Amino acid sequence: MALVLELFLFSLLLPLSYCADPIAHYCAQNYTSNQTQTNINQVISDLTTKASVGGFAVTSSGTGNNTIYGLAQCRGDVSANDCSACLASAAKQFNLTCPNQSDARLWYDYCFVRYGTVNFIGQSDTGYVTIFYNTQNATNPDAFDKEVRRIMGKVNADAVSAGSNSLGREKTKFTQYITIYALAQCTRDLQPLQCAQCLSTTLQWFPIYCSHRQGCQVLYSSCIVRYEIYPFYFPLDSDTANSAKNSITKIVHPH
Ligand SMILES: *[C@@H]1O[C@H](CO)[C@@H](O)[C@H](O)[C@H]1NC(C)=O
Ligand SMILES: *[C@@H]1O[C@H](CO)[C@@H](O)[C@H](O)[C@H]1NC(C)=O
Ligand SMILES: *[C@@H]1O[C@H](CO)[C@@H](O)[C@H](O)[C@H]1NC(C)=O
Ligand SMILES: *[C@@H]1O[C@H](CO)[C@@H](O)[C@H](O)[C@H]1NC(C)=O
Ligand SMILES: *[C@@H]1O[C@H](CO)[C@@H](O)[C@H](O)[C@H]1NC(C)=O
Ligand SMILES: *[C@@H]1O[C@H](CO)[C@@H](O)[C@H](O)[C@H]1NC(C)=O
Repeated sequence: MALVLELFLFSLLLPLSYCADPIAHYCAQNYTSNQTQTNINQVISDLTTKASVGGFAVTSSGTGNNTIYGLAQCRGDVSANDCSACLASAAKQFNLTCPNQSDARLWYDYCFVRYGTVNFIGQSDTGYVTIFYNTQNATNPDAFDKEVRRIMGKVNADAVSAGSNSLGREKTKFTQYITIYALAQCTRDLQPLQCAQCLSTTLQWFPIYCSHRQGCQVLYSSCIVRYEIYPFYFPLDSDTANSAKNSITKIVHPH
């Protein structure tokens, strides 16, 4: 699959707010078959039900070349209620964001839901990437980047380690007043080695887009990584001293 890069310059005013629009999406492959639509409906319904319990599900529906494969996963740190709400939003959003498309993927802060005609389950997919970064730069940026690299190494190792449910979370005090929060997550269908490979692929974008930035996230279909200087994962850290430092939002699509 060709690498498509979508780039958003961005910062969050309300990092923990939840809304129905996905933060990123990918749609491909128009279809016209009613059977495909029926299978997609079945897959979405299955995923919403099954992933609401335990935060992860894979499923498929149909036979032969009408088969639709699906995967849904909530970020490992979100509550069951937030997880269900996110999955329900995604289920409703597919028709709006990817109408009549048989390869559809929606990324939210709290969940990721995907379906397609190719069996992608258990395969690491880094064919499509979305990158967000804060337009604000860190003070003492070279030291900051070094600390970001260190903590990304830690969360990536956490996500790959046994019993982590493919989730890594870490924080580190950069200065007395600035804490860096980081998260890494793979989809739970991946083996540890595939997870590690996906996460290491995210790091190639850091020098290009995340350098000096106060926050950055790289979203693939098989793994995501993110760091910020405010708490954004659960359980919520009480340190909110940094949360006023985000500003201007810009969006760019360099194709
Ligand atoms: C898919 O359908 C959309 C909307 O009907 C259309 O704009 C687009 O050109 C189609 N793409 C392909 C590859 O056929
Ligand atoms: C597909 O569904 C539409 C609307 O439900 C119906 O009008 C059409 O006849 C169906 N086509 C086939 C091939 O079943
Ligand atoms: C799907 O399979 C049917 C029967 O095997 C075949 O006639 C049709 O061309 C296939 N469609 C596609 C899009 O591959
Ligand atoms: C999405 O659209 C399809 C085709 O029009 C329809 O069958 C399905 O029920 C819709 N799904 C939702 C959740 O609205
Ligand atoms: C999706 O397909 C249906 C049935 O073929 C059609 O009525 C509808 O306009 C299509 N939607 C889009 C956005 O192309
Ligand atoms: C932030 O740092 C990046 C990377 O060095 C640089 O390209 C950009 O101009 C800086 N932005 C500001 C507002 O200083």
